[in-house]
Amino acid sequence: MIRSFRFQLALRATLVLGGALAAVSLVSLLTLRRSLDRELNTSIMNVAQIQASSLTDEPNGEMHFHEWELTPEEANSVRDLIRYSEVWRTDGVSLLRNQYMKGDLPLNRALLAEAGAGKLVWADGSWNGTPIRSLYYPLERLGIAHRNHVLQVAAPLTGRDALLDRVGSFLAVLTVLIAAAAFTGSWWLAGRAMRPVHEIIDQAEAIGAGSLDHRIHAYADTREYRRLVDVLNTMLGRILGAFEAQRRFTADASHELRSPLTAMRGELDLALRRERSAAEYRRVLESSLDEVVRLSRITEDLLTLARSDSGALVARPEVVDVVDVTARVLDRLRPRAQEKGVGLDLAGEGTAEAWVDSGLLRQVVWNLADNALKFTPAGGEVRFTVRAQADSVWVDAEDTGPGFGAIDPEDFFRRFYRADQARTHDVETTGTGLGLAIVKAVAHAHGGDVEAANRSTGGARVTVRLPRGQRS
Ligand SMILES: Nc1ncnc2c1ncn2[C@@H]1O[C@H](COP(=O)(O)OP(=O)(O)OP(=O)(O)O)[C@@H](O)[C@H]1O
Ligand SMILES: [Mg+2]
Repeated sequence: MIRSFRFQLALRATLVLGGALAAVSLVSLLTLRRSLDRELNTSIMNVAQIQASSLTDEPNGEMHFHEWELTPEEANSVRDLIRYSEVWRTDGVSLLRNQYMKGDLPLNRALLAEAGAGKLVWADGSWNGTPIRSLYYPLERLGIAHRNHVLQVAAPLTGRDALLDRVGSFLAVLTVLIAAAAFTGSWWLAGRAMRPVHEIIDQAEAIGAGSLDHRIHAYADTREYRRLVDVLNTMLGRILGAFEAQRRFTADASHELRSPLTAMRGELDLALRRERSAAEYRRVLESSLDEVVRLSRITEDLLTLARSDSGALVARPEVVDVVDVTARVLDRLRPRAQEKGVGLDLAGEGTAEAWVDSGLLRQVVWNLADNALKFTPAGGEVRFTVRAQADSVWVDAEDTGPGFGAIDPEDFFRRFYRADQARTHDVETTGTGLGLAIVKAVAHAHGGDVEAANRSTGGARVTVRLPRGQRS
């Protein structure tokens, strides 16, 4: 069950504070009770000593206390302070008691016997419904004549109990009040502390797919919430970026697919308008085939990039000789290079084994060679170099074409990015702008990278690094 943070916080604060207060109250009550008890005992003991020492022996052996009658008001005003004294013979016969006592104190014969043996004995009990504390005080210390006499002094516990009751109730009421105040206070505070969170949530909720450029402003000026707001805004920025990229990609892709389709449709429309000769039909079909080939290449490229986006690009890595794969791809392109009058060669003998997907590696080499051949004018030179080192294999494609010019070479790796076609004045160089993006995606999928630069002697250099990966 999901509970309210506010309620939980208030509840915990109340429990902690209430518990602490209750514990403190309990300890205070116990301490108070102990000190009251000590005081009472001291007072009983004092009375016992005074009474014992002031017992007057009559010549006939009788005893009496020095005392005087209290008026009823006086008796009432000192009710809790009053002490009762009675002298017992050890066989339980009462010899003497205060004049103001209406009857004998409750006697515990076993304790009387103990006191008769010379011990001080304390006992709590009740007398006429009043709780009392008694001290059995042996009188033998007054002389041999009192060997069998014990003085019992008793005090009511009502005063002590009433005080403890009052203090106890006061502390209980205080604890409850403070706990209630703690609950209300922390409920209020938690509400205030949570308000920015609610506001941030409200603002975040209001941002939809169409308003991703909106930002959260709530409480961005409070240090505690600043980070949350910053993180959310950064995340929104990233989502917006990804959204934009996706939108641009879809738009560019549709555009690239539409051009060949439109061209083909126009041509087919025109061809069908009237009867044509077999040669004319053939020409139209050939041109359509060209467009279809172009379309399937673009579709293939888009698929590769989509797989790269979903992280499913390196499906089948295996041990591959990079020199061998490069040589085979270049061999396929050699007729085209010869036709154009461009030299195409591969430096790098022996083998350079790496753990890669051979299909993707072919695509990389093909794209680099295609670009180099496309942009290098007749009489130029395209040179591939494959180098292997401990951890990585490098494939280097250099040409003597125009190079990347003043544009940041990183830009050429963006999808659908092409430099101004006017720069080359060559229809043949028209491409989709996906080749280098694929090269980069493949390199990254293998944990490698790619770099493009202008050569110092003119021309372009693109270098792909592939980690050799797990060795068989
Ligand atoms: N060897 C090179 N020399 C000069 N410019 C290059 C070279 N290789 C790439 N470029 C520039 O980078 C751009 C992007 O290259 P990329 O391979 O991604 O696309 P493309 O070749 O135009 O199209 P595609 O490869 O999809 O058919 C090219 O249009 C070109 O402007
Ligand atoms: Mg290309």
